[in-house]
Amino acid sequence: MGLATGDKIRIGFIGVGNIAQNAIMPAYLKQPDVEIVAVCDLKEARAREVAERHGIPHVYTDFNEMVKRDDIDAISVCTWNNSHAPATIAALQAGKHVLCEKPPAMTVAEAEEMRDAAKDAGKVLMYGLVQRFRTEVTVLKEFMEAGKFGDIYFGKTSILRRRGTPLGWFTDPAKSGGGPVIDIGVHLIDVTRYLMGSPQPTRVSAQVWSPHGDYKTKGVSRWKAFDTDDLVFGVEDIAGGVIHFDNGAAMIFDVSWAANVKEIPFFSQVVGTKAGASVDPFEIYSEEQDYLIDVRPVVEKKNAFEAEVRHFLDCIKTGATPIPNADEGVAIQKILNGIYESARLGREVEL
Ligand SMILES: NC(=O)c1ccc[n+]([C@@H]2O[C@H](COP(=O)([O-])OP(=O)(O)OC[C@H]3O[C@@H](n4cnc5c(N)ncnc54)[C@H](O)[C@@H]3O)[C@@H](O)[C@H]2O)c1
Repeated sequence: MGLATGDKIRIGFIGVGNIAQNAIMPAYLKQPDVEIVAVCDLKEARAREVAERHGIPHVYTDFNEMVKRDDIDAISVCTWNNSHAPATIAALQAGKHVLCEKPPAMTVAEAEEMRDAAKDAGKVLMYGLVQRFRTEVTVLKEFMEAGKFGDIYFGKTSILRRRGTPLGWFTDPAKSGGGPVIDIGVHLIDVTRYLMGSPQPTRVSAQVWSPHGDYKTKGVSRWKAFDTDDLVFGVEDIAGGVIHFDNGAAMIFDVSWAANVKEIPFFSQVVGTKAGASVDPFEIYSEEQDYLIDVRPVVEKKNAFEAEVRHFLDCIKTGATPIPNADEGVAIQKILNGIYESARLGREVEL
């Protein structure tokens, strides 16, 4: 997987809105072996402004044109969810490595096509499931892999916002593919499954509700996409359910953008035969000398976006399989779409 020239990895961005400007591009700019050579956005003025700010020489509004450049090694896809698959596949087919934002795609078929395109191209396809790079998660994963938790049979995860629906394309199903399940639930469900040892999902039973939609609640702050002029509210506000895995384990989840609940910013807990663990609070629950003990690892926390981007670059350089890889993208997409399918049919679905 050698690079075209020198040690620098030359990056192109597709989509330069909020997450690109505030998290992913700054993370790249901190790496010594990166050069950002081109940006693409449907909004030309936005792409030009970002390019000028960072001295990036090339600007595009059509990603099919940008991926033809032979001075780009890798692409970061930071668009709305509906173009994750087309942009990623175009980049892979043009011989570029890809770091694609979460969720992987809108459908399982798209995630499978992305995986196949990566295999055919022999390039790295990694998904930006950034919570896997939280320090707490990387430490707990080490404990889990060392067998400290025994057999993990249960996981429980929540992210509950009371009035935190993002503004912009997120609520338009044609652009997002769904609401809090696909937007924030994806992080929590993914990380909890990861800490459970990444078992394969087999069945899902879930329900979704949309009691709030648009609202005028005062005194709350909401995530804003760059464009908030065309608001469509066609997705769920809250969802809950259970996911079953091939090793007999199960995970319960609930997730909301808007609901009359006590807020839970991030809860992910796994339960094993020897010990259990929680990400936030960062604790391990076990027993020693016939006493219950809580262990709190003491470790300096790192910036998860920088760790994610560094991992992507290292995979390009070494040929290592990324975390999470293209097959993991298919597994997580099966869960997300399974949740919506189960809610639509009003029954458990096989995945
Ligand atoms: N990892 C995280 O924690 C995290 C947080 C927020 C958003 N995200 C993800 O990042 C992505 C973008 O979210 P955002 O908040 O930055 O949205 P945004 O609307 O602020 O930015 C998206 C940008 O993509 C551009 N775009 C859309 N389709 C395009 C296409 N086909 N070609 C070129 N440009 C295109 C838009 O014009 C916009 O500038 C989403 O997939 C979202 O799920 C991830």
